[in-house]
Amino acid sequence: WFTSANMHDDFLECLSHKTMNSNSMSQIIYTPKNSSYSTILKSFESNLRITSDFKPSIIFTPIDESQIQAAIHCSKKHGLQIRIRSGGHDYEGLSYISETPFVIIDLRNLRSISIDTENKTAWIQAGATLGEVYYRIAEKSKTLAFVAGVCPTVGVGGHFSGGGYGMMSRKFGTAADNIIDAKLIDANGRILDKKSMGEDLFWAIRGGGGTTFGIIISWKVKLLDIPEKVTVFNVTRTLEENATQLVYKWQHIADKVDDNLLLRLFLSSSESPFRRGQRTVHASFTTMFVGGVDELLHEMQKSFPELGLAKEDCIEMSWIESILFFAGFPRSTSLDVLLNRNITTNQRGYFKGKSDYVQQLISINGLKGIWKLFNHVDENSAELQFSPYGGKLNDFIESETPFPHRAGNIFMIHYGVGWEKMESSKKHIAWIRNLYRYMARYVSKSPRAAYFNYRDLDLGVNNKGNTSYAQARIWGAKYFKNNFDRLVQVKTKVDPTNFFRNEQSIPPISS
Ligand code: FDA
Repeated sequence: WFTSANMHDDFLECLSHKTMNSNSMSQIIYTPKNSSYSTILKSFESNLRITSDFKPSIIFTPIDESQIQAAIHCSKKHGLQIRIRSGGHDYEGLSYISETPFVIIDLRNLRSISIDTENKTAWIQAGATLGEVYYRIAEKSKTLAFVAGVCPTVGVGGHFSGGGYGMMSRKFGTAADNIIDAKLIDANGRILDKKSMGEDLFWAIRGGGGTTFGIIISWKVKLLDIPEKVTVFNVTRTLEENATQLVYKWQHIADKVDDNLLLRLFLSSSESPFRRGQRTVHASFTTMFVGGVDELLHEMQKSFPELGLAKEDCIEMSWIESILFFAGFPRSTSLDVLLNRNITTNQRGYFKGKSDYVQQLISINGLKGIWKLFNHVDENSAELQFSPYGGKLNDFIESETPFPHRAGNIFMIHYGVGWEKMESSKKHIAWIRNLYRYMARYVSKSPRAAYFNYRDLDLGVNNKGNTSYAQARIWGAKYFKNNFDRLVQVKTKVDPTNFFRNEQSIPPISS
């Protein structure tokens, strides 16, 4: 403890020496002595499962790039690990916990967004949230948009660097697919852009994950043309309404329908509306169509008439209204809610997530096996998301970006389970692991692929000290397939001493 306390004091002294006067220090450096330390630490944390006996003794919230350069210099000099936090939504909390003495560099003050409607581009600082990005685009244009995830409080720092799947990904690909430039600070404290970082590093940060290669300061993205109106619907069917057959049929068309159509499927289990006191599976077809209602009905009639979609089920709205719709806000909600990034107490709970990719249809019996497993967990506590692939996602070959989940995937599964009390943690984690074991026969193999942004430490972790290529490849190949090898090469070139690291960062090959 004594050593660690000294390290932090030395770090603080170094930082104040290198950066600024003591007035501004108090507004950007938080130690446990500050009354707002705990608020700052917890303001983005929603998953109560993530706990650690080790807290950062400094949270640094820089207001400019030179302060980040100084923090890198001082943390190197005094042997403190850095954890980088943008939106704080990492499933395993790797942006704010660590078992070795560490400092959080929290990018909440670096979140300016500048939109260039003429050239259809935007520069977005890494600390911005998706909600802020969507809001600022819509403020400037009714026919420009961006493709990224559904939850407005997710940060662009982590999200874009791991891929970024959203309700228009069949039309436009991932967020990372639409990055055209970036600014990053490397382990030597140099500020690099696309040109100066070179092709390999620019490739690596667009899907190869945050943390490993440096601190992303900002992204330049391509804005995407959309019509003034899009159409959405959310239609639920239970087992009594033929849900099993519908889910089975959905698998045949989900990746093949018109690219403007993304039919996402949410599966959960709760009381049946038809049989009181009995549980049933609810299959919710949550859909975005980049176009008008008549065109959508035509497409649905052609490819999925079994769902029985009616015009009354559909709502035409602007793209920005669809963001609120998919985030679960009532229609009358003001757009300003997108600017609210703090997680409130009632949004906190215990959570574990995992992912898989499906390349061959899951049989009716396979689906029935999932329904059975739902009965082994509390009602409403588990949810599976089936997110369709195909469309634009297939336009990229696997090695074009580090995100390798391209042609051949019908859909991605996200398994999620949530609970309210710490005492039930063991039971729920055992349940999701059991479901994951059961699914092995139905999902991709060699490797059994996973989505990096749904981080899952069950897949394997690095050692506290050096980690061999072979050990890291166990989890790395699942997220990145063969791109893992190129990521290791880039890491070895740009950060050979492994300054930027966490439990699932790409290790360099030690000489
Ligand atoms: P956070 O700040 O925790 O960072 C995540 C990782 O990236 C950490 O390792 C961190 O160190 C690193 N990092 C962060 N900023 C960095 C920077 N500037 N430079 C370098 N490294 C940096 N995904 C999806 O594709 N589609 C979706 O719809 C959703 N929806 C969703 C909802 C909810 C409620 C959660 C909790 C998560 C999602 N996700 C998702 C997953 C999400 O994309 C993933 O958790 C991202 O990593 C979150 O990025 P943040 O910046 O918020 O996290």
